[in-house]
Amino acid sequence: MIGRKELIKKYLDFFKSKGHKVIPNASLIPENDPTVLFTTAGMHPLVPFLLGQKHPLGKRLCNVQRCLRTQDIEEVGDSYHHTFFEMLGNWSLGDYWKKEAIEYSFEFLTKVLKIPIERLAVSVFGGDKELPQVPRDDESAEIWMSLGIPKERIAYLSKSENWWGPAGRTGPCGPDTEMFYWKPNDIPAPEKFDPNDKRWVEIWNDVLMQYNKDEKGNYNPAEQKNIDTGMGVERTVAVLNGLEDNYLSECFKPIIQKIEEISQLEYGKDKEKTRAMRIIADHLKAAVFVIADGIVPSNTEQGYVLRRLIRRAVRYGNFLGIKEFVTAVALPVFEIYEDYPELRKNKDRILTELEKEERKFNMTLEKGLKVFERLIQGKTTLTGKDSFLLYQSYGFPFEMTKELAEEKGIKVSREEFEKEFKKHQELSRTATIGKFKSGLADSSEKTTKLHTATHLLLAALRKVLNDDNIVQKGSNITPERLRLDFNFPRKLTPEELKKVEELVNEQIQKSLEVKREEMTVEEAKKQGALGVFDEKYGDVVSVYTIGDFSKEICAGPHVKNTSELGHFRIKKEESSSAGVRRIKAVLE
Ligand code: ALA
Repeated sequence: MIGRKELIKKYLDFFKSKGHKVIPNASLIPENDPTVLFTTAGMHPLVPFLLGQKHPLGKRLCNVQRCLRTQDIEEVGDSYHHTFFEMLGNWSLGDYWKKEAIEYSFEFLTKVLKIPIERLAVSVFGGDKELPQVPRDDESAEIWMSLGIPKERIAYLSKSENWWGPAGRTGPCGPDTEMFYWKPNDIPAPEKFDPNDKRWVEIWNDVLMQYNKDEKGNYNPAEQKNIDTGMGVERTVAVLNGLEDNYLSECFKPIIQKIEEISQLEYGKDKEKTRAMRIIADHLKAAVFVIADGIVPSNTEQGYVLRRLIRRAVRYGNFLGIKEFVTAVALPVFEIYEDYPELRKNKDRILTELEKEERKFNMTLEKGLKVFERLIQGKTTLTGKDSFLLYQSYGFPFEMTKELAEEKGIKVSREEFEKEFKKHQELSRTATIGKFKSGLADSSEKTTKLHTATHLLLAALRKVLNDDNIVQKGSNITPERLRLDFNFPRKLTPEELKKVEELVNEQIQKSLEVKREEMTVEEAKKQGALGVFDEKYGDVVSVYTIGDFSKEICAGPHVKNTSELGHFRIKKEESSSAGVRRIKAVLE
């Protein structure tokens, strides 16, 4: 038997003994990666370092990272799909390569976890027509064989199976080699590995990051070759304890038990009800973590994903015949993950938000379901107007309507819904909806430009308002606009806003170079670089300087020259919270 905390400890201790430093378990909301809405893998916080920037803790890192993947939200309900999960990972930033990475993985699995080699199989990249320039990975196969993995237990698979990344549209990626565990306790593993046999469970993935995908879709050889690995905590704990169902492992069981108690139903008895219980357990656990990291339910961006998670759980609760259950079911999450200070510190706030959202949705859910039944009477498709009505008047996220309709064999069109949506809402929200298809935001030149524009804006505010105490209190960038929060006690006048706008545009017209330098935090401070000086920074930071106008600590990305930015325009200035103002601006 091995528990969640024990697995995490063993993993980190093992990699520490191999010279790795433990990096923090970062927020689910990526700080420096505008290409994604959520942290979907341990590598996100490391993107700048995978691209070559020096990491203050060195070239060998490891951690356990909380992750959220919503692309597969509709798959949740079986025994092993989850939205929220924890990922163990170790990284080599241009340091060790395939041989050591595979040797470490093998040693950890067989020596530390003591998995018999008979229960292991691996896959490697077998080449792909789509990527003729990337050879079949015989090298990894040979390393596995040298360690004692028989040839029959190595599968060569194509890009769809054995390639990882980039996480967003662009960035580091490469072929990978994956490790599988034979689950059944009573049947010995077949000699030959069949990757389609679901009894082989993938538990770990070593990505050999040696390519960079660019905006045009080309895979270019990376300047720095990295190792990026990921081991799923929930499934590894489940299989190591001989469990067929991840929801019976200690990562879920107390939540399931709570649902059983409230619903007076038995888990595992009825297929559809079991599925509903898993969805509720998964979604509410995810919701707890998302709220802990500062998000509240809303109709845009991460807030919309959160809303969907909670409302989907409430709807499945309705199916089980339970009501006002959300906070009670969320409580065991705090016990399972009592090692997260983020949960402990924010417990009251998390429970309040959950309850509020449940109450809001309960006011319209039953009525909405009745209206839905009426709308589909005698129809094979639901119009965009209908799905929009359910969204607008009854708070049904589009995905929920789609799911409800599809259960009844009725088609709905996202395009039609979006058309209706566009008629009613401002454009920025529509753009957000597009992102939910993949769970990913758009990584584009646009966001890079807006990043640089944000630096110009902050510097301009300090100059126009003649206040050196103004600092960034928050920033959020989508391909459509930038949003900057800064401390200032009052509303800005139209004249001030105009001056700020003009000053930014002047800098753009001056074609100033945007220069990146690495230096110590001390040196950055000495040079007057702006930044949030807390423990977040390591010893060495990147400082971006724009002419002699702006100097800020930032992980990027930025354009090379301000002339690339176009015309800057402020769209809105408003209060964000007490003493904090918020500006939204665009580049045209
Ligand atoms: N980034 C890799 C994954 O998510 C390790 O599987």
